Amino acid sequence: MARQDIPIPREVYQQSLRALLGPITPLLDDPSISEILVNGPQQIYIERSGKLEDSGQQFDDPSDLMSAAQGIAQFVGRTISSEYPRLDARLPDGSRVHIILPPAARDGIHIAIRKFSQSKLTIEQLITWGSITEEAVEFLRATVSHKKNIIVAGGTGSGKTSLLNVLSTLITPDERIIVIEDSSELQLQQPHVVYLEAHPGDLKGKGKITIKELFWSSMRLRPDRMIIGELRGGEALDLIQAMTSGHGGSMSTTHATYPDDTLRRIETMALMSDVLIPHAVLREQVASAIQIVIQTSRFNDGSRGITHISEVQGLEGTKYILKHCFLMENQHSAEPHERKLVATGYTPDL
Ligand SMILES: Nc1ncnc2c1ncn2[C@@H]1O[C@H](COP(=O)(O)OP(=O)(O)OP(=O)(O)O)[C@@H](O)[C@H]1O
Ligand SMILES: [Mg+2]
Repeated sequence: MARQDIPIPREVYQQSLRALLGPITPLLDDPSISEILVNGPQQIYIERSGKLEDSGQQFDDPSDLMSAAQGIAQFVGRTISSEYPRLDARLPDGSRVHIILPPAARDGIHIAIRKFSQSKLTIEQLITWGSITEEAVEFLRATVSHKKNIIVAGGTGSGKTSLLNVLSTLITPDERIIVIEDSSELQLQQPHVVYLEAHPGDLKGKGKITIKELFWSSMRLRPDRMIIGELRGGEALDLIQAMTSGHGGSMSTTHATYPDDTLRRIETMALMSDVLIPHAVLREQVASAIQIVIQTSRFNDGSRGITHISEVQGLEGTKYILKHCFLMENQHSAEPHERKLVATGYTPDL
């Protein structure tokens, strides 16, 4: 075997990556930190208990930050440079990273790290934190067991993925679940799960695997349920069509701030698909495919919670008809104890 062919053990890469990450490494090791945001070599913000603060850390030399970015890229077998200035990656501990640098970023290298939480969130924790109530959990348990199609929607970092993970614990263990993600984040507790992950491919696009392709594979893998980590583009149409063709009980998340926006956003994403479908038909499909929208929000005090659990009842002209089952009272109150998710009194026929 030629000298350069001797494989370097993964642990060696991990150790050298820890060294290259410099001031980021102790922040990664600190379990009280949930997010790390590097804005150039001299400013590193962190999120602790849902609040952003300056970590006071910095890179001694600006070139060390570029080395850290390149170290991350190398670890996942990719390139980051002015020619390829954006990168999505995962660190050895599972943390999700996005790197962007000039010319795509105006004033230097930015790295955002969403730390992988070792402890899995539970329903009990969400109830203790006031993010959900027992009554709402029982309602959601019924919608999951009746195989309703559910979308969790909310702003960035509002707890969508965490809630999807918790919702998946309501699925009975005898079901075969296929999970499709851009970058693996979900950690289901069920025994029978197939995880599929998209891949960006090399610089020429070789080896690229899209969410859409994984979606088609998943249909041939005999799913009882499909969980799509996040809807971002044309794959929304594939999901809607699967949902309307007998794949009940599917779940996904998307970025939107209000249940009505959520449905419109999914409609717009489905229009991005390369399959042309009349807009009116698409709207009808969205209205019949999605049965429950759960809206999450991140509040000023750093906490996260559910603001709406709504049933999609159909269409009236071009408008979606939504009926709220649970609503957060005093959503805009600065006092966390005043915010409460309450049942509206409306219970859909499941
Ligand atoms: N109910 C909650 N209460 C407090 N913190 C939470 C709650 N749910 C999630 N978090 C924390 O909020 C952060 C963001 O959570 P998560 O990744 O689930 O959000 P997201 O909406 O999926 O984000 P993105 O928009 O980036 O995909 C994580 O650090 C997570 O631990
Ligand atoms: Mg997410």
